[in-house]
Amino acid sequence: MLEVLASKRDGYPLISGHRGGAAYAPENTMASFENGWERGADLLELDVQLTKDGHVVVFHDHTLDRTTDGLGPLGEKTLAEVQTLDAGSWFGPEFAGEKVPTFEEVVDWAKGKIRLNVELKSGPFPYFQDELAEKVVAILRKYDVLHETLIISFDHPLVRQCKILAPELACAINFTARVVDPIGLARVSKADILNMHRGWISPDLVALAHGHGLGVQCFCDGVEEAIMLTKMGVDFMDSDHHDVVRAAVRAVPLEEIAG
Ligand code: G3P
Ligand code: MG
Repeated sequence: MLEVLASKRDGYPLISGHRGGAAYAPENTMASFENGWERGADLLELDVQLTKDGHVVVFHDHTLDRTTDGLGPLGEKTLAEVQTLDAGSWFGPEFAGEKVPTFEEVVDWAKGKIRLNVELKSGPFPYFQDELAEKVVAILRKYDVLHETLIISFDHPLVRQCKILAPELACAINFTARVVDPIGLARVSKADILNMHRGWISPDLVALAHGHGLGVQCFCDGVEEAIMLTKMGVDFMDSDHHDVVRAAVRAVPLEEIAG
């Protein structure tokens, strides 16, 4: 079993701080990762994409507008240009001067501290990120953390590419639609985990996935819903209020958690 799935051995789902812990600090910044780590997240989720000159940076949106003082598509800026931006002030004046980190900077900081849940962002056209898988895997390999990292993406060919490059990586396909054959979708993408919209998760779906050796993951920020999903046996949850959700799900008696 992959290490990242085996680590769920105490019976509770692993909780990722979504974008570090987006409720508490500006998403995808070092301040957010420090905060997520200090608040006891099991993993930290972050988003990666490429700059115009091919550097892997940690950033969620397609454009700079919402979370920095810059404008326009990230993919049209060089790393040097991106690093001049303020990625903290939009969230609160106390975060002024926070930068867009490089992926390598975050991996270096996280090694030995906390595992990462890395979301490969891709598209929309013309920003397909075909070189992203190779670059992300190379950085994880350099720091010897492939075996403890979870890769997720809505771009399923990129997930497949990561798994081919590094079979020791745990990989999840993201999807929001209700699909005919989730197991087949995972198999064709070489994925280990179904990272799906929580609205489609049922006890039968979790049992089906587990029966095929697959994990189940979702985003969930509501305590009642997280408790319900925990009882179904969901393996991973990404949450903005990860500490609140984690405390709530760990209060569920183990005998009430499926399989
Ligand atoms: O499970 C992670 C999923 O929520 C990713 O979506 O848009 O927050 O990166 P996003
Ligand atoms: Mg994400």
